[in-house]
Amino acid sequence: MKIITVIGARPQFIKAAAVSRKLRRVCDEIIIHTGQHYDNNMSDIFFKQLGIPEPDYNLNVGSGSHAKQTADMLCGIEGILLKEKPEYLLVYGDTNSTLSGALAASKIHIPVIHIEAGLRSFNMRMPEEQNRILTDHLSSLLFCSTDTSVNNLFNENIRENVFLSGDVMCDAVLHYSNNMKDSYLSEVISSLNGIYRKDNDIKRYYLATIHRAENTDDINKISEILGAFEKLDFPVIMSVHPRIRKMVDELNSEKNYKNIYFVEPVGYLEMLCLTKNAEKAVTDSGGLQKEAYILDTPCVTVREQTEWTETLDGNLNILAHPDEKDILDKILSTKIDFSKKKDHYGKGNAADIICDIINKHWSE
Ligand code: UD1
Ligand code: UDP
Repeated sequence: MKIITVIGARPQFIKAAAVSRKLRRVCDEIIIHTGQHYDNNMSDIFFKQLGIPEPDYNLNVGSGSHAKQTADMLCGIEGILLKEKPEYLLVYGDTNSTLSGALAASKIHIPVIHIEAGLRSFNMRMPEEQNRILTDHLSSLLFCSTDTSVNNLFNENIRENVFLSGDVMCDAVLHYSNNMKDSYLSEVISSLNGIYRKDNDIKRYYLATIHRAENTDDINKISEILGAFEKLDFPVIMSVHPRIRKMVDELNSEKNYKNIYFVEPVGYLEMLCLTKNAEKAVTDSGGLQKEAYILDTPCVTVREQTEWTETLDGNLNILAHPDEKDILDKILSTKIDFSKKKDHYGKGNAADIICDIINKHWSE
């Protein structure tokens, strides 16, 4: 059995780290990297650090408008599918790389496997919501992280070949955070690449990432968010996604933030360590919300809705508007009830479940 996996953005490399090695026990896997993310610290670092197999193809599409990026990926993927003739095409999540892979394959009748299927925000303005709905409706095997996702698919009449597998990012968190020594934190903090200054004496801190279009399309929202960070009781370590780098430069030169330590994106192991030890995570990242939940770090999500609704129980995760006062209130005044926490994302064996089901489907 030959399977082509399409990946291209940071969270997909981490998902592939959990799945690829196991998938290779049941099939010949060919990896296409679309090139959606291409900076060393957004791409290569994950392949090296997590031992992800080298991509067989790199389309090098780079950045661009949604249409241009998606179209370039579609053409590139189609050519490889026609040449390689795989039995399945596998995609993760909801990026433009996900949709391009699913569309290219389904048009030429190659069955699509979607991992992290059924996720919904019910906000059709999000490019991710468009990508995930289309991908789910084009897929032949759908692996869901949670019951909520299974129900979402059921409500859209997708009821066959839908499997509750658990979450492959949970596999990665449990695998890579296991045996992480306490002393690793000071090593990580001193290795951070500060954008404007070098601070390596940080002990208690909040961890932040912001990159979603809904927040980054308006510099006033970023200004509100950073305004809240500036007033917090502990410093904020903020991993700056390249999408907001220019805005951060502009705002920092005007406001000269003292409480925010802006750093270049870090590797996955460093990120897990920073998440595990943070007072709270403050983010709009899907992956970080889940990782914080799994690692018992409370989270404030700067969004109007979340797909990962299970994390909201007991206020382990809480939504905030991109508004300075609301963010400060949510970070400083929320009561958290850890007794509400459950293993919503599985036990760390989602990749095994997925690979067994794919193998069985193929053998039948
Ligand atoms: C994409 C996904 C988003 C996911 C995120 C993970 C889509 C529509 N969005 O958003 O769902 O949460 O990845 O991080 O697919 N850039 C660089 N270097 C890079 C990559 C990007 O400088 O290596 C800059 C470019 O200016 C680019 C911008 O970041 O235009 C946005 O990148 P893009 O991949 O289009 O979207 P993300 O915001 O990363
Ligand atoms: N991440 C990382 N380094 C960073 C920031 C994030 O390794 O500097 C990891 C994070 O731990 C999570 C994933 O990247 O596993 C999330 O990716 P991102 O926030 O870019 O996308 P999303 O999950 O929102 O789609």
